[in-house]
Order: sequence, then structure tokens, then C-alpha cells
Amino acid sequence: MQFDLLIINGTLMDPGFGFTKKADLGIKDGKIAKVFDEGKLTRKVIDKFPAESIVDAEGAIVTPGLVDIHVHFREPGREDKETIQSGSRAAAAGGFTTVACMPNTQPAIDNQETVKFVTSLAEKGDCRVYCVGAITKNRDGEELSEIGDLVKAGVVAISDDGDYLQNPEMMRRALEYARMFDIPVISHAEDEFLAGGGIVNESFESSRLGMQGRPAVAEEIAILRDIKLAGLTGGRLHIAHVSTAGGVEAIRRGKAEGVKVTAEVAPHHFTLTDDLIGEKFDTNLRVNPPIRSEADRQAMIKGLIDGTIDCIATDHAPHTEEEKDVEFDQASPGMIGLETSLGLAITELSDRGYLAIPDLLRKMSSNPAKIIGLEPNSLNEGEVADITIFDPEARWVVKKEKFLSKSKNSPFVGRKLKGKIKATVMGGRITYRAK
Ligand code: DOR
Repeated sequence: MQFDLLIINGTLMDPGFGFTKKADLGIKDGKIAKVFDEGKLTRKVIDKFPAESIVDAEGAIVTPGLVDIHVHFREPGREDKETIQSGSRAAAAGGFTTVACMPNTQPAIDNQETVKFVTSLAEKGDCRVYCVGAITKNRDGEELSEIGDLVKAGVVAISDDGDYLQNPEMMRRALEYARMFDIPVISHAEDEFLAGGGIVNESFESSRLGMQGRPAVAEEIAILRDIKLAGLTGGRLHIAHVSTAGGVEAIRRGKAEGVKVTAEVAPHHFTLTDDLIGEKFDTNLRVNPPIRSEADRQAMIKGLIDGTIDCIATDHAPHTEEEKDVEFDQASPGMIGLETSLGLAITELSDRGYLAIPDLLRKMSSNPAKIIGLEPNSLNEGEVADITIFDPEARWVVKKEKFLSKSKNSPFVGRKLKGKIKATVMGGRITYRAK
């Protein structure tokens, strides 16, 4: 059989299907055409193959393509921060083959035309891009979007991300519609009345720094309300970027009561704590919800371990140098995350013994895929060749000039990480190869 691409010498790890083995992959027409158990692919075949179409995965793990269900690609409207093209390149560099874009673009993704615009641009990109549609028109919390139309255009979820949908009656209806279409409602759970105007976590640190705080209770109340509404309606609720111990506990209880609630955590919330802010006032540490306390960070890790938190999602939020090179309280909230996500997860979670690599990969591929209703990627013969290849032992230092994202607003620049992407393959095409 003639192949288009060979991935050789790697260790296949498909946590969704529960196998780890040494094997080579033959890719043809965008699909995994053949899995060769160790030693079955002969030297003769490999030697005849063009070198640029071979990925040598020696020492690396070959795994189903990573999925990030929370990114901001800024197109349409703020192409100076990120475009679908640049964002999808950054995604591929981070090992992602699929992402879901949040609708807080300008204009918002609240109608079929904008969904079509984004998805048509993504066709030429380096990863699969799905849209999350806005729950309300213009994301202003006043009037529901035409949710049926959005679903017809292909949205995989609805959310007013960046803002909490304050009106509980509207959230109830959103969950009812979402239930009809079997899509989740993604909640940016921070009560605006409690959090609004806050810059950092409300804590001893916020008092010390003299900055207005965003209290944990703003998140906890918002999550509790939405879980109640999800229970009432039977709709699927997904909590975006959970950051507080109380929030995790509310989700744990919701799940125990049988409510259809899932949750994600962003790498910065299981890695960073708010005491770092006063060190250098790095504006890249300003994010919503804010970086919290060590106890909250520990709760994120516990939630990941016991399954309360289903997946890791970056909340990749690009901002320009001008928007970050200002006083801390003037800086736009958000940080990029696609290119550091796997390295942070391996360094902070696997290497410290909290999550074994297969469990981690489940939280970065099959679990997030299922939440947005996609078939999880897999390494079985006949499956679409969306594949991530990474060296779990390789150490590297995050460098600003190496980011492929258009924006460079990462607080992780200079950090030493373990676990490095070697190559990413999407639909049988190499979308990223480390130099
Ligand atoms: O810090 C954030 N930035 N949090 C969000 O929810 C939105 C994001 C953005 O779009 O910049």
C-alpha cells in the first residue's frame, strides 16, 4: 500500500481506547490506513520513502490530536491581535488539531453569516475550527440569538463568554433550547454585580496591592445558579475556566445530584497564584476569572484528579503589546495559552505525580471533544489522521520570539517546561513540525 505519510518509532498512546504500544503509522488520504506493530514496517519501505513525509517519533508519544474548546481567535474585528490563520498555527504548534472559538468577536458570532465567515476562513488553516455561538444577540444579555439558526450553521455550543448571562430567566431558556439541540451552554460564571470592576482576586493580596478584588463568591454564586437551572431544564451546562475551590465543590455536588454539568480549568489556574502579581506587576497575569490563592489552585488539581473537572482548556486570549504595556489595572484581561498548555500540564500535573499522562491526554482530547459533541480522535485504523506527537521528557524554555500566535501576552515567558510538541498532523497533513 502506498502511503502519504509515515509516523515511525513512536509509542502510540490512545487513552480513549485504552492502549499504549510501540507501533508505526501509515497515513493515506487523510486517514490512518495502517497500524504496524513494532518491527512490522520494514526498513526497505522506510528507506524508499521521501524524508519530508516521515515523522520520526523516536522517544515520543503519538496520541490522538489535542482539542481545546476555549480559544479567542479575534476574527472578525481584532485581526491585529489574532486571526483564524495565526491562531490555528499557534494551535498546531501547541499540538492541537481542533479548537472551539468563543463568540466575543466584533461583531459577535451571533448569526449564521458570522459562523460561516469564521468557518470558511478556517478551511485554509492549520487546525479544525468550530464556533461557539453567542447566547444573546451582540452578547449584551438582552435578547436570545436565533439558536436554531446557529446550530444549523454548525455551532457546537453557545456562550456569552467574557460575560456572565445575568438574567436567570434567559439562562433558563438558553438551557432549554440547548437541550433541544443537544449542545452545551458554556457559562463564564462570574456574577457581574459582585465581580464587576475587580482587577485581581479579592484577598489579602488585593488589599496589599490596593486593587479592587473579584471575590470567589462571584464565581461560586454564578455556578450554583446555573447548576440549579441545568437541573431544572435538563440542559447540558459547561462551566468555563473554573478557578475557585467553592466553584469546584459546587460542580462536584451538581454531578453527584445527576445534573448534566461539565467543567474545564485553564492551565494558569492550576499553575499560578495571586501572590505573584505584586512581584513584578506583570500585566500578563491579569485575567478573568483572576489568578486565585494556593488553596484554590490545589482545589483545581484535586478536581482534575477526581474527575470533577473534565478537561483542560486554554482560554487563549491574545492582546496586543499596547494593551498590556500599561498600568496593571488598565491592561486588557487575558493571556495566550495554546503553545504552553501541554508543557504546563506535563510539568505541573504529570511530573508532580497528580495525573498520569494517559489521564492528562484524556482531559486534553477525548473529554473536551465529547463535551462539544464531537467524535473523539483515535489512532485506530480507518480513523481521521488527527495526531499529536510529543516528547514527554524534552525540556525547553518558553521564549517570546518563538510564539506563532500574533500576540505574545504570556506570563510563562522564561519558564522551564517539560514536554514538547514534536509534530502535529491534521487530516494527514503535517501542520507543525518542531525545528
Ligand atoms: O481574561 C479573559 N479574557 N477572560 C475572558 O473570559 C475573555 C478573555 C478575552 O476575550 O480577552
